[in-house]
Amino acid sequence: MWVAKIKNGSVIDHITRGHALDIVKILGITGRAEGVVTVAMNVPSKKLGVKDMVKVEGRELSAKEVDKIALLAPQASINIVRDYKVVEKQHVKLPSVISGIARCANPSCISNSNEPVEARFYVESEDPLYMRCHYCSYIMEKKDVLKQF
Ligand code: CTP
Ligand code: ZN
Repeated sequence: MWVAKIKNGSVIDHITRGHALDIVKILGITGRAEGVVTVAMNVPSKKLGVKDMVKVEGRELSAKEVDKIALLAPQASINIVRDYKVVEKQHVKLPSVISGIARCANPSCISNSNEPVEARFYVESEDPLYMRCHYCSYIMEKKDVLKQF
């Protein structure tokens, strides 16, 4: 209703207002390589009052990208569209333990050394995001995550 339907690609819907550009950033969308990208902000929504939305024509998001979105927009839903139809709808869910998505922002954390140690965090709060490093107890926030993408 607010923005044109897409033919093939991904619609990230029900993004908490003000977070659309963060999603654009973590997905690495520059507008120079993708097809049509639509960013809508403050769209009226029954569920949320207002919401943001990002539509990416010609790109189906991977599971890892969906996990990244969950970190920044835990209420979002992701729709995969093929030939104008929604063929898959995923309500993102932030797991309580996060690994493989973000690095620890503490430079002296063992997970940032040459040791073969993978970063791991425990989510203490979803929104605002607080996640605690398993190794050094550093509390990561959204801004720490955004700096990495
Ligand atoms: N959409 C789109 N292009 C399509 C099909 C759907 O951009 N070809 C968008 C719709 O505008 C909507 C989202 O994808 O924002 C989900 O579509 P749909 O499941 O049809 O809408 P709702 O039933 O309203 O979704 P929900 O229940 O998740 O609110
Ligand atoms: Zn750490």
